[in-house]
Amino acid sequence: MNWFIDTFRTSLGKKLLMAVTGLGFLGFIIVHLLGNLTLYAGHEGVFNAYVAKLHQYEALILVAEIGLFALAVIHVTTGLLLFLANRSARSVRYAVTKSGGGRTVGSATMPYTGLAILLFVILHLSNFTFADVTDRTMYDVVAATFSSWIYIIVYVAAVVAVAIHVRHGFWSLFQTIGLNHEKYMPALRAISVALAVILGVGFGLIPIYIGIIV
Ligand code: HEM
Repeated sequence: MNWFIDTFRTSLGKKLLMAVTGLGFLGFIIVHLLGNLTLYAGHEGVFNAYVAKLHQYEALILVAEIGLFALAVIHVTTGLLLFLANRSARSVRYAVTKSGGGRTVGSATMPYTGLAILLFVILHLSNFTFADVTDRTMYDVVAATFSSWIYIIVYVAAVVAVAIHVRHGFWSLFQTIGLNHEKYMPALRAISVALAVILGVGFGLIPIYIGIIV
């Protein structure tokens, strides 16, 4: 256990924790997107059948939820510690913000897209996970949420934040584990962009499709 605490104390250890927990989240949102693709079926029965199937595995869902919650706590607190450490290391602020040293919009905005996603997830859980479905189906809940312009805009904006966060997070995961060899760079760059586009388009079109098109 000591080695774990010692590793965690170092900046590299914290980045490793961010990478592992971030990867866990990525796995969840890919599976979540695959399930939500049933919303594009053009028939609410397909999505409701998927939700019903999912809820047949209550015990498994509970384990996944506890796991996700633990990942969230570790990812958010470690991210916050790294953010504060970076800030105090730069206590003498630059007079001019330069975009040097491989800094991109994605890397510079990680704490802010991260915070936006955290706030979005809290809203999202209250919209769907904690929704009362005694007299209506989960599809009714989704359709009612996206009947509001405000929710469509909030969800699309949140999904853009997710895409930017994943694009940089996935990329920096390989820097952290040292797999940043020149040979792999183009492939890693392409995979991180592809992931961001698939998640961004896949999730981002749902509120537009449900709220405006059908
Ligand atoms: C924009 C399209 C999205 C739709 C329509 C959607 C829909 C849903 C629905 C219906 C549920 C409840 C499932 C149930 O309890 O039966 C849910 C849960 C959840 N969603 Fe989403 N979601 C979307 C995007 C996202 C994104 C981008 C994230 C992550 C950043 C996310 C994270 C979660 C989490 C953490 C849960 C709780 C999982 C659980 O309690 O087992 N969702 N979503």
